[in-house]
Amino acid sequence: MKFRGVRCSDLMMMLRLLAVAVVGGLSVASCAGQEPPPLPPPPIHRGLNILGSDPIWMNPAAGRFRPEYFATIKSAGFDFVRVAAGAMRYMDASDQIDPRYLQRMDWVVANARAAGLSVIIDEHDFQFCASNAVLCRRKLLAFWRQVSVRYRREPSTVLFEILNEPKWQMDPVWNDTIADVLKVIRATNPDRTVVIGPRMANKIQTLDDLRLPDDDRHILVTFHYYEPHSFSHQGAPWDPQWKSVHGQTWGSPGDRATLAADFDRMAAWARRERRPVLLGEFGAYDGSGTPIAQRGNYVDAIAREAEKHGFAWCYWQFDGDFIAYDVQRNAWVGPILNALIPGGTSAQPAEKAPAKRVVRGSSQ
Ligand code: GLC
Repeated sequence: MKFRGVRCSDLMMMLRLLAVAVVGGLSVASCAGQEPPPLPPPPIHRGLNILGSDPIWMNPAAGRFRPEYFATIKSAGFDFVRVAAGAMRYMDASDQIDPRYLQRMDWVVANARAAGLSVIIDEHDFQFCASNAVLCRRKLLAFWRQVSVRYRREPSTVLFEILNEPKWQMDPVWNDTIADVLKVIRATNPDRTVVIGPRMANKIQTLDDLRLPDDDRHILVTFHYYEPHSFSHQGAPWDPQWKSVHGQTWGSPGDRATLAADFDRMAAWARRERRPVLLGEFGAYDGSGTPIAQRGNYVDAIAREAEKHGFAWCYWQFDGDFIAYDVQRNAWVGPILNALIPGGTSAQPAEKAPAKRVVRGSSQ
């Protein structure tokens, strides 16, 4: 059949093409106004750093962290812990880790698992490494040789983090170190999620220097965010730049815009590289006299911004300093927990007494 000289089948084809063009045009138009696609999802979501300065490693009887805290953390709404492990000082002359140290690590992994928490084993000797790259690299490889084999049969809820905050002497050798350590880990743990961050203490600004093997898709990229340090580290006795600074506030529209822009930058990189992201540390020092409500607002803003971008996050830290949990009172620090897990089942009315902190160890 013909319609005004055009064959009906041709007419149908023309209409179909027109329809495709219109629908295509519409979807391009609607895409243009849309949010960018989400990042690859991280395998973990909301976490706490634990055991950074706890004597529990070599002296369990003196430990501040009690076994029931794993369940306390889980029921408050967290799904993982990041374990700051400073094992290098417990290595012998041939770089074998003291068996007692490894037994404590077994205890941490087993108890975290039993409580339903994922666990990141984070090698945390970053200060030693920063001023001793040659020895650090030898010990780091030895650490991962022993730890990889030991935990190779653990489920995927156990993650490895090569080294916390590589900086200074580690900066120029960081990409080579990543490649060498990954080789060691992958020999026994081909699919284990490995956490890796950029040089210069895991700062967003150095992301473009980070070289990761493109064919390894079991990498979770981490960054740390304490910006601005003038707020988060004011009064911190170990930090020469900020120890005498006090009275800094955070929360102006400009502060929030900086936070959003920084996290946008992280997300843009991750989208381009198709990598999931973990904000591995953030928080504000608790011995500074900064009103707790302000620290709470800061922590809340960062956690929400991370979630908005699809980043997992991990607060620094459960106990020690910046505390989320007061082991003296055996209670959460209300404003910090409420900021981290708003409306959680363990939400706290208010803080009752000043928290007692421990003196920080040399690993920090
Ligand atoms: C660092 C470290 C941690 C330290 C914290 C606060 O970047 O990883 O050990 O205590 O941030 O300064």
